[in-house]
Amino acid sequence: MDTFKHPAPPAVPESVVEWVRSVESLTRPQSVVWCDGSPGEDARMRDAIVASGAGVRLNPGLRPNSLLVRSDPRDVARVEERTFICCRSRKDAGPTNNWMEPGAMKSRLHRLFDGCMSGRTLYVIPFSMGPIGSPIAKYGVEISDSPYVVANMRIMTRVGLAVYSEIERTGEFVKCLHSVGSPLATGARDVPWPCDPDNTHIVHFPEERLIMSYGSGYGGNALLGKKCFALRIASAMARDEGWMAEHMLILGMKSPDGAKTYVTAAFPSACGKTNFAMMVPPAHMKSEGWEITCVGDDIAWIKPGADGALRAINPEAGFFGVAPGTSFSSNPVAMECIRRDTIFTNVALTVDGDVWWEGMTPEPPEGLIDWKGRAWSPGMVDSDGKPVSSSHPNSRFTAPAVNCPVLDPEWENPEGVPVSAILFGGRRTGTMPLVCQAFNWVHGVYLGATMGSETTAAAAGAVGQVRRDPMAMLPFCGYNMGDYFAHWLEMRKLIKHVPRIFHVNWFRKDANGRYLWPGFGENARLLRWMVERCRLGAHALETAIGWLPEAGDLDLEGLDVSAAQFAEAQRIDTAEWHRELLLQDELFINLYSHLPKELVFQRELLMARL
Ligand code: OXD
Ligand code: MN
Repeated sequence: MDTFKHPAPPAVPESVVEWVRSVESLTRPQSVVWCDGSPGEDARMRDAIVASGAGVRLNPGLRPNSLLVRSDPRDVARVEERTFICCRSRKDAGPTNNWMEPGAMKSRLHRLFDGCMSGRTLYVIPFSMGPIGSPIAKYGVEISDSPYVVANMRIMTRVGLAVYSEIERTGEFVKCLHSVGSPLATGARDVPWPCDPDNTHIVHFPEERLIMSYGSGYGGNALLGKKCFALRIASAMARDEGWMAEHMLILGMKSPDGAKTYVTAAFPSACGKTNFAMMVPPAHMKSEGWEITCVGDDIAWIKPGADGALRAINPEAGFFGVAPGTSFSSNPVAMECIRRDTIFTNVALTVDGDVWWEGMTPEPPEGLIDWKGRAWSPGMVDSDGKPVSSSHPNSRFTAPAVNCPVLDPEWENPEGVPVSAILFGGRRTGTMPLVCQAFNWVHGVYLGATMGSETTAAAAGAVGQVRRDPMAMLPFCGYNMGDYFAHWLEMRKLIKHVPRIFHVNWFRKDANGRYLWPGFGENARLLRWMVERCRLGAHALETAIGWLPEAGDLDLEGLDVSAAQFAEAQRIDTAEWHRELLLQDELFINLYSHLPKELVFQRELLMARL
């Protein structure tokens, strides 16, 4: 076979052609398609997904230009235990990452990739993370044998031939190699969702700016621009180049005087980041002139600007949101984003060709087909007597950002938006107050480094235990977490206008297990205080753990939260804090060899203040 029978378009730089040819020789696909991101190409991908049996076109009257796709039930989520950071030295990956010596890992991967695309098409996807030409943007090329990946990458990133000129200009690109790991023998019938769950590997070579992902076609395992590039590889790039790649949403808050304040926020997975990024403020705030706009819901690339402020871009171009729980009451903006042009994965299909999932409406419609393609009705249980849901708990929507009705007008500003506040938060029943402000940058870094979240039934392990997830980066930091903290501390020297750092917790409960704060849109009241704190130095009380607003400092108008309840949500329980300090030991001991001493001092200071 003439393996190079599909000539590269003239725009493709030699470095890309060379890499594609080497992958082609290794994986031996039936054909090669050089993607251009055009609507025609997208239509062909969607046709291929439908023809494979994995996808169903939704009713164009109800959900125009949208697909429902069903994955193999064994391929439904990111696989952290099979995710590796393969740098030369084990200590550079650190104790929180899986590591293997790069040469040994490559031998293993080369065996897996050898001939793995036979019978399939190899797609070459040039993409930009961030607005093309932005001084903060970076470029990548993903090779994949999955049309589902091509269609999703087109929503989540900026795919197009223009990327090649930027690769030529900057002289670099991140190599993202992906295969579903399911070679197809001549004449063999394909399965709707090919994958190789027993051999899945999600591997990063940060020193080479290379990603190799094998065996899964789902989400972050396969859409390599997202967690693999924009967080794991980018965090290592950012350390080398003096910027930050963070697992953070970005939003803008407009005050009644017209001033806009941009805020980034890091919450662990499954803490409602998308809801927060698209929050609708309560009616009275809206009528006073408060407005919230969305720049991004998952990742922020943050770089010191010429003006000495930190400037952030959302490197993505779409939302890859968790479907269950999304509704017109929890997140009306997300519901608008997914009205059309959306790829739904692993949700239920309605009789009229629309989608449904748990929590979308109080009652499910009749006649649903579940995410495995079977008839479903409420109350169904599996062979162990456990309830069967219509949609997988990690079912997703992939929707273009431009569908977002509250997209910030500056969302594609190539220079990014100036960051005034950084929020950290988690799901904590006790200890952590609803909102508090760090004393300074170093204290803020300590708050981010020690942040934790209680495990929910959605994750493996005991429910209700605090899992430390520093800056929400535990599964996403591409190097040693201790060095990552040091990088945060170093960044302070590169900025003149230092963002204020806050910690929030809307999951605190009272003694009867009731939430003390309503959350959702009401969080705009907390955001208002934080914004006014940044801009105007709004009042707060100095306490042992940071600056805390009192009931009188917050807009509680029309809210069913008494001053006493608010005080309870803000209460500092010394005994709980003593326990918290002890619990932090686990993280500090684990990271000890690379832990910056500033963080050890912060813990000592807190101990003394308490
Ligand atoms: C995500 C995650 O999917 O954080 O965004 O897990
Ligand atoms: Mn995320």
